[in-house]
Amino acid sequence: MKLLLTTLKHTRNPAVYLCRRCCSSPRSSGGLSSLQDEVMVGSSLELVRTVGSQVEVRPGFITEEEEAVLLQELEPGLRKKRYEFDHWDDAIHGYRETERLRWAPPCEEILNRVRSVAFPGGAPLLGPVHVLDLDKAGYIKPHVDSVKFCGSTIAGLSLLSDSIMRLVKENEPNEWLDLLLARRSLYILRDQARYDFTHEILKDEDSVFNGHRVARQRRISVICRNLPG
Ligand code: OGA
Ligand code: MN
Repeated sequence: MKLLLTTLKHTRNPAVYLCRRCCSSPRSSGGLSSLQDEVMVGSSLELVRTVGSQVEVRPGFITEEEEAVLLQELEPGLRKKRYEFDHWDDAIHGYRETERLRWAPPCEEILNRVRSVAFPGGAPLLGPVHVLDLDKAGYIKPHVDSVKFCGSTIAGLSLLSDSIMRLVKENEPNEWLDLLLARRSLYILRDQARYDFTHEILKDEDSVFNGHRVARQRRISVICRNLPG
């Protein structure tokens, strides 16, 4: 299996196309200064144009203060749980998670901003918000979210760490997009990007975006989903 994965990596189309997204939020003075506008690379320009249009990454979607407010709300509950490392058949390795229906007003305000950007027109949403806490050594294997329980759009905030989300077309391993999910960014996957591509969060040792190493720390994601139509 290991050999196969290495081979796949080597046969990945080396051509990489960048997509510059402008960001209306103030730029953070983080360690990613040379990459700030570059949030998406892919196996072909065509793919970046087509599937890339169903993917949004908004760096700096929340402020440091807002991140702290969310963490304050989430940490006490998460701390009571142990990271799960043992279930090798799970899609996620090294994680603890929770769902939350009721949030303190400052958190609800942030989530409403996420909802209004990701789900215009008040589409019916999955009530509870999903909170996933990945250990530094944790990662999410390639998967497609359940079509039975979740609708066409997935929107996630990334707290505490930069990370790389990789989308790979099902049964077409040479068609891929890498997304740079900076700490405090929002990502949105829609339609084809959500249904026809697997998504994964790379483990620390594989975390390289367009040739640049992106150190993975512990990462908490706060994910809003809509209901199937
Ligand atoms: C998931 C998932 C991505 C993230 O929980 O299904 O893909 O940002 N999470 O944590
Ligand atoms: Mn998922």
